[in-house]
Amino acid sequence: MSDVLLELSGVQTGYGDLKVVRDVSLTVRAGEITVLLGRNGAGKTTTLRAITGLNRLFGGSISYLGEPLSSDAPHKRVAKGISYVQEGKKIFRELTIEQNLLLGGFSQKKGKRALAASVEEIYQLFPILGSKRALHAASMSGGQQQMLAIGQALMAKPTLLILDEPSQGLAPVVVKEVMERVHDLKDTGIGILLVEQAVQDSVAIADEVSVVEMGKTVLAGPASKITAEDLQKAYFGAG
Ligand SMILES: Nc1ncnc2c1ncn2[C@@H]1O[C@H](COP(=O)(O)OP(=O)(O)OP(=O)(O)O)[C@@H](O)[C@H]1O
Ligand SMILES: [Mg+2]
Repeated sequence: MSDVLLELSGVQTGYGDLKVVRDVSLTVRAGEITVLLGRNGAGKTTTLRAITGLNRLFGGSISYLGEPLSSDAPHKRVAKGISYVQEGKKIFRELTIEQNLLLGGFSQKKGKRALAASVEEIYQLFPILGSKRALHAASMSGGQQQMLAIGQALMAKPTLLILDEPSQGLAPVVVKEVMERVHDLKDTGIGILLVEQAVQDSVAIADEVSVVEMGKTVLAGPASKITAEDLQKAYFGAG
């Protein structure tokens, strides 16, 4: 089994003093995809915000590479290799695709040469971005813009990539394509925590699945062992 990158156990978090996530547990391993599912308002984004340091941990534990994360500021977590593509993430529409990618590498404080090499790596992963490198990002389709947002996050050379609903607003056929590209990223060895509402398409690429309902994990385990019936029950109750 691959190395555990991220482990959440009984996580409680929320906004100010308002607890909205009451008991969430999940694991992400290197070279694997963990999908975090749940209905609107279930607490998926809030959980991600606790991992990235944007929301305070009220209880439970979050460990990354075997160490607790709780006292690190968000920028420190980025420096430790955690990249986060937020829900509805917008790219810079008036900049070119290449300029958008270079901005993603800004935090790396690398020289021009190293940045250019990183950009080339992204073009290898997402050839469509390479073929349109000099065009304004606004000229791309929704699916391509989502790939650019992911490419931007990859410029920071993450160990753990966190994606919040990359399929949002995309046509079904495009959702499948974005999921395929996310699946391809496994070959790079990074771990991926993918929040999705596109249940079937995301479970199809998942190694681990976790379902959250009203701030609590109600189902978790290897994707290979989770049936459509299990998912149905987790979403709609045992009734
Ligand atoms: N800034 C905020 N302040 C207070 N409560 C919030 C805030 N943001 C979200 N919430 C509440 O926290 C709960 C969980 O929201 P969250 O955004 O984590 O859900 P989600 O699972 O990501 O849903 P979606 O699929 O719609 O993105 C909801 O009840 C929501 O109303
Ligand atoms: Mg959300």
